[in-house]
Amino acid sequence: MAGMIVAGNWKMNASKNTVTLLLNGLKQGEAKVANAELVVFPPFPYLAQVQMELSGTNIRIGVQNICAADKGAYTGEVSLAMAKEFGVSYALVGHSERRALYAESDAQVAAKYIATQAAQLTPILCVGETLEQREKGLTLSVVTTQIQAVIDAAGGASFTNAVIAYEPVWAIGTGLTATPQQAQEVHQAIRAHVASVAPQQAASLKILYGGSVTAASAEELFAQADIDGGLVGGASLQAESFLAIGQSAK
Ligand code: PGA
Repeated sequence: MAGMIVAGNWKMNASKNTVTLLLNGLKQGEAKVANAELVVFPPFPYLAQVQMELSGTNIRIGVQNICAADKGAYTGEVSLAMAKEFGVSYALVGHSERRALYAESDAQVAAKYIATQAAQLTPILCVGETLEQREKGLTLSVVTTQIQAVIDAAGGASFTNAVIAYEPVWAIGTGLTATPQQAQEVHQAIRAHVASVAPQQAASLKILYGGSVTAASAEELFAQADIDGGLVGGASLQAESFLAIGQSAK
């Protein structure tokens, strides 16, 4: 599909020096990425630096998490309005590490999704099953239940301005990647589920695959009919591998 997205989730990895090194590499190589929008998701303290260093480029900026509330007594949280001051376009919502380590519920994920759209940013809604759930044959029901929680709260039409990322939990940071066929099966089911409530939105919905994507695995994954790009963790921390993944978008 034309107009893929290749998003780099840096997680809690960066320093002032490595940010500059990585962004210099991306700036030098971005012209070679013809068929994908590159997006970086730095930790919050580096947003100002990233915005400054990426000015004049086509590389977009996202945040890894946001607070659903506007402002006030939320110690340790960052608002959408704050993120927007640094040129942010996207927010990850419901990443499995947020769900597992910080107990984010489907209801909280839906609230963040709604708040992100209300702030005119694009949420990237992350969904995915654990290994145990896959082994029990629950993959499609887990993933569609996670999406249904957002449909119930925000409506199917909200997918006009949203991206979904399918990230099997067992593939994140483990070096295990879903096979292109396994990923395509789930992506197709996700698109069909959204189509059941919002057929028009489903047709143009971008669904990214995430979970140990590398330059070696990206090309075959991105060639699948319902895979519209990638959400990349480890391999987004080096310019060379992130750009190579971007170039795998054909
Ligand atoms: P990984 O992370 O590429 O390191 O598996 C992906 C993600 O969690 O977004």
